[in-house]
Amino acid sequence: MSSSDVARQGDKNARPLSLSGHVGFDSLPDQLVNKSTNQGFCFNILCIGETGIGKSTLMDTLFNTNFENFESSHFEPKVKLRAQTYDLQESNVRLKLTIVNTVGFGDQMNKQESYQHVVDYIDTQFESYLQEELKIKRSLHNYHDSRIHACLYFIAPSGHSLKSLDLVTMKKLDSKVNIIPVIAKADTISKSELHKFKIKIMSELVSNGVQIYQFPVDDETVSKINTAMNGHLPFAVVGSTEEVKIGNKMVKARQYPWGVVQVENENHCDFVKLREMLICVNMEDLREQTHTRHYELYRRCKLEEMGFKDTNPESKPVSLQETYEAKRQEFLGELQRREEEMRQMFVQRVKEKEMELKEAERDLQGKFEQLKRLHSEEKGKLDDKRRSLEDEINTFNKKKAAADLLQGQSFTNSNSNAKKDKDRKNSGFM
Ligand code: GTP
Ligand code: MG
Repeated sequence: MSSSDVARQGDKNARPLSLSGHVGFDSLPDQLVNKSTNQGFCFNILCIGETGIGKSTLMDTLFNTNFENFESSHFEPKVKLRAQTYDLQESNVRLKLTIVNTVGFGDQMNKQESYQHVVDYIDTQFESYLQEELKIKRSLHNYHDSRIHACLYFIAPSGHSLKSLDLVTMKKLDSKVNIIPVIAKADTISKSELHKFKIKIMSELVSNGVQIYQFPVDDETVSKINTAMNGHLPFAVVGSTEEVKIGNKMVKARQYPWGVVQVENENHCDFVKLREMLICVNMEDLREQTHTRHYELYRRCKLEEMGFKDTNPESKPVSLQETYEAKRQEFLGELQRREEEMRQMFVQRVKEKEMELKEAERDLQGKFEQLKRLHSEEKGKLDDKRRSLEDEINTFNKKKAAADLLQGQSFTNSNSNAKKDKDRKNSGFM
């Protein structure tokens, strides 16, 4: 029986008992509230929208303050994400708010580049959290959680339809973050056009399978308002920190020659609805959804990628230790396989090298034999030549000896002739 089965049986076996007096654990919710209040809260908003669409103005209007805003140029080579964190306090509640803005979104020719940087940013925050969770010595209680809890996607008030960049970006992000689409600068679109535009946007999101954040309707304290608000999406917002006197009250508004658009007037725009839904009613749900849905999905995929599983191929639960052991065995097996592969390869290479050397030896031997043959042929020819020269020398010497002999004889003859002549002369024959 698995531990979860035991736990479930334990639940069934729990016997209801009534208390005969006050114990005190009814203060648990208060203890929780006190603890959370002391710890403070953290909320991270990502604003995606093209340059100058009104992201910073809306943030200033929403939080009734003046955040540091830098105007972006339309000539950024790539989309950047700029995050700034602020410590805010309302009554005794502290909120660590991080606002992340896209800089240069949609200004590049390559649209894929635009959303990829946003996707990477969101994943990086999940990864940091996962790394903290996986540490031996964790400090999650004072860890600055930078995961994005809400993504306000600013739609240009064109009155036409969503741009392909809007659709593709939202599609890429919908499993990673709670997307709340808003129609920016809604004071620049007429009431009837706005109505049609909202319907068009929603139908385009549905037909492209984009899942936007739905305000939760399961909690009965907020289910009525959330159901109604889900029907108003996407909120058409107007931002302004300028105060205009209406009656005897100063209100946030945008003033035009033909009239005044009041930001907090629900007949003029959905700003109040957005503030109510984002901050007052569903901030905790957005935080929770981020952790339990989006981060959980990231974590699951990441751990599965690393080879961790909850069940084995027979659908039996496996512990982390077992997975680790199996992984270790798999790794050792793989190591052995590679070692064997390398050994085989080495043997093969040695064989090849041996063959090559033998071949070279045979070549050399062949060349040596040929040279030897040539050498002996040359030697034979030279011996022949030497012999014929020796014969010639012998013949010459013989001829020379004969000639010398002949010459000697003729000299002796001539001497004796001369002597005979002389003798004859002397004897008077002359
Ligand atoms: P970057 O950060 O530079 O990309 O711009 P942004 O998206 O933060 O826009 P920002 O809030 O700086 O506003 C740009 C211009 O739009 C300013 O002149 C604002 O006054 C104006 N603006 C902001 N909100 C609205 C709005 O709701 N309606 C109208 N008509 N103009 C607005
Ligand atoms: Mg800005």
